Amino acid sequence: MKRLIITIDGPAGAGKTTVSREIADRLNYKYIDTGALYRGIAFEARYAGVGQDDDMGLENLCSTLNLNFVKDERGLRLLSNNSDITDQIRTPEISMLASAVSARPVVRKYLLDLQRSMGREKGVVFEGRDMGTVVFPDADMKFYLNASQKVRAIRRYRELESKSFQTLEEVEIEIGLRDENDRKREVAPMKPADDAVMIDSSYLSVNEVVEMMLSYISN
Ligand code: DC
Repeated sequence: MKRLIITIDGPAGAGKTTVSREIADRLNYKYIDTGALYRGIAFEARYAGVGQDDDMGLENLCSTLNLNFVKDERGLRLLSNNSDITDQIRTPEISMLASAVSARPVVRKYLLDLQRSMGREKGVVFEGRDMGTVVFPDADMKFYLNASQKVRAIRRYRELESKSFQTLEEVEIEIGLRDENDRKREVAPMKPADDAVMIDSSYLSVNEVVEMMLSYISN
């Protein structure tokens, strides 16, 4: 069977990660979490003391970075210059900083090339915000996964419960702010591609979403 490029875009907490992983497993494809790359840059910028609006500093930082994914028994791990930063990039602070640096054209340009090179071999599920619109406009199958803000906040809260001290209200505020940043930025704003299949997961289980997507993919 032909190996495809599949894109799954949408806002935080819509279930993209769980669904993308499951689709990749079922098809024996690679899975790439592009949000982790933006988080990786945010993490390194913070470590190096580069401000979120400092385009020159961000450009220099990107030119020295080597971000790549490896798979081990714990799942997909993000390496930055060979050190594993997977767990450090999941804090609320890095979420907001990732959203801020993702609006800078220098950062998007750097990651555009990197993401396209990760898709060269086909047989990949890419999860993000602009996968179907900008990075892979010719993708074989595009989805836009959404859910109501309340449902997304509850899901994210449950996911973070053991690792973060945020209340549900704080999680909902963070998600709202990030959505607004990601939707309103000038370069590659979060939006569905014209040819994306739109799915609202508010009242669907993971399995229902996965089955729905697989039926589109196989047709
Ligand atoms: O998917 P995530 O929550 O880990 O993404 C973190 C931030 O990265 C998100 O708020 C916006 C940015 N992002 C982006 O601009 N484009 C992508 N393709 C993926 C993520």
